Amino acid sequence: MDVIYRYGLVSDADAMAAYHHQCVVQAYVPRIDGLTEELLDPQRWVTRFAEWISNPDLATVVATVEGVAVGHSCVAVGGEHAGHVHHVFVSPARQRQGIGQELLAVGERLLRRAGCEAIELHTVVGNAPAIALYTSNGWELTDRLVEEDSPAGPYNEHVLVKDLTTGHVGANRSHWDESAPDWLERGRRSWASAPHWGEMMVQESDLVAAGAGVLPELQGRDVVEFGCGTGYVSSWCLAAGASVAVGLDNSGAQLRSARLLQGEFDRPFPLIHGNAEQVPFRDDSFDVVINEYGAAIWCDPYHWIPEAARVLRSGGDLVFLASTPLLMTCAPDFEWGQTSEQLLRPMRDMHEMRWPDFDGVEFHVPHGDMIRLLRRYGFEVMDLIELYPPPGAPERFSFYDRDWAERYPAEEVWVARFSG
Ligand SMILES: C[S@@+](CC[C@H](N)C(=O)[O-])C[C@H]1O[C@@H](n2cnc3c(N)ncnc32)[C@H](O)[C@@H]1O
Repeated sequence: MDVIYRYGLVSDADAMAAYHHQCVVQAYVPRIDGLTEELLDPQRWVTRFAEWISNPDLATVVATVEGVAVGHSCVAVGGEHAGHVHHVFVSPARQRQGIGQELLAVGERLLRRAGCEAIELHTVVGNAPAIALYTSNGWELTDRLVEEDSPAGPYNEHVLVKDLTTGHVGANRSHWDESAPDWLERGRRSWASAPHWGEMMVQESDLVAAGAGVLPELQGRDVVEFGCGTGYVSSWCLAAGASVAVGLDNSGAQLRSARLLQGEFDRPFPLIHGNAEQVPFRDDSFDVVINEYGAAIWCDPYHWIPEAARVLRSGGDLVFLASTPLLMTCAPDFEWGQTSEQLLRPMRDMHEMRWPDFDGVEFHVPHGDMIRLLRRYGFEVMDLIELYPPPGAPERFSFYDRDWAERYPAEEVWVARFSG
């Protein structure tokens, strides 16, 4: 049965109060002297959950099965308790299915996104399963206790804390090391195919026919891919006549996939484990810097674009594919949520972006900022190619439907020339 995560709605409050009551009876009544089921009033919690869901200082996410809430986390993203995980509850019928762990992770991501670095939660003394969940997810059990009020009188809770200061390079390495196996098959298909771009797999040959090819001149040129993943873009560059292609990536697991595919397709080239924001290459050593959803979205452009300029020779080409800033203003917070035609978040000052349903950190900037950045480092913008779904494209991509992408650009390719 699929579990869907989304923000809580006031209409979820009844279901939340019902399983919350069961959890409290199961976990609290045996541990708090004098607390009896009769003392607990589920109706009070219906009102409270409805208030929490409507409170802008709180973010409440629910896990749903067939539309009905079976668990929730509620975190304080603003106000005097900012940084506090108020609740993680899962219906007893749905426990031990990983839902609590995911709700905890979602809550942490929302707090990180809200700028909270030192976060805290409290759990009733003796609630061993909850303490085990938290400590196995990196929370530190402190020796501090706080007193809570209950209808039966005060009781003690442990204080647990977590530090969220891991930077984006480490967070993205963990994300890609973990998810690399999910991308191997797709990588294999791309290695076996003619060049195509983005999630929508727009064919290079179609773009060339329309006068907007992505691949630059490659014959006899030295190419480096910043964030090569499984390495198919570098492989295409070699096939198109590049004299050298070097794949650089932050994830050892992704590079292992690339090495495997190099063997399968008998096309070896150097693979470097490194960070595209600080590349281990000499100045003026390449003619082309390229990447498709590599450094373009996983690295801070204010760090990787200067590195691209440093390693490019004069007259070199920079080509990269990313999501459009328009998509980033409209994309739902949860990847498989409904695509919106509303502007859900501001474009002004868009830069580092975090999402509640995964640990990776992305970077997206508005077009004006990108043009100024490129020009500051000696690039001339030659083209900005907006991609639309080709005939026969699937109905759905991550974050958007085909229908949306037929009307608005979801993916774009920047083409810039370095003049030194
Ligand atoms: C979606 S893949 C894109 C690569 C390729 N087009 C593919 O699909 O296999 C994103 C890649 O960027 C890499 N990446 C993320 N942060 C990076 C960084 N700081 N430096 C270099 N590579 C990075 C990830 O490890 C991942 O392999």
